[in-house]
Amino acid sequence: MKKFIQVAIDSPAAAGAGTQAKLIAKHYNLLYLDTGKIYRFIGNLSIQNKKKINYSFLKKKIDKLKINNLQSRILLTDKVATEASIVAKDKKIRKIVYNFQIKCAYKPPNKFQGSILDGRDITSVIMKKAMFKFFITANIKTRALRRYKELKKFNRKITYKEVLKSIKIRDKNDLNRKISPLKKTKDSILINTTNLTKRSCFLKIKQIMDKKLKN
Ligand code: C5P
Repeated sequence: MKKFIQVAIDSPAAAGAGTQAKLIAKHYNLLYLDTGKIYRFIGNLSIQNKKKINYSFLKKKIDKLKINNLQSRILLTDKVATEASIVAKDKKIRKIVYNFQIKCAYKPPNKFQGSILDGRDITSVIMKKAMFKFFITANIKTRALRRYKELKKFNRKITYKEVLKSIKIRDKNDLNRKISPLKKTKDSILINTTNLTKRSCFLKIKQIMDKKLKN
């Protein structure tokens, strides 16, 4: 019988969760949804509309959204990321985004063996009963340096100090908000990537998953 694999990952900004999620998705043939991209998509709309969000317009947009629409380069910028962490505090916005995530998590297209989602509230809200739950983190300086190197490719003027500051703001927003704050659930496995290479981190996660899948 085909085993349906569900993987839920939460992490603070730039901890390496996206990289690991992509590797796991590829290895186990899972649909991958980077849920942060949805909030970034909305953050970008908010910037374009001078911070005025019309909920029914947004709902229509999200109802029609395809994962491919989330590939735009503009969504990778620091400005959009910070705005994403502001719109993500809005209860109505989280509700609009909820169904899209549930569909990806529980009804991935047949060609996939399951799904993997990463974000801030995946283990605590979206995929509470996932077979695998991970909390991926790294110390703040390491996260800022990784994000700085990534952003430098698009924006030569960006400084490490700016990136560190914006990650601190996002951590504060994400950890302290009332609705769906970032937290490690008791049943999530902690993976600290500070001193791990991408490959060794993946192998660690793979070992945990394979052990459980064999049983
Ligand atoms: O993961 P990423 O850094 O792209 O997320 C951008 C922002 O979107 C986060 O800082 C967070 O505020 C928000 N987010 C969220 N819930 C998720 C995923 C992201 O609130 N599941």
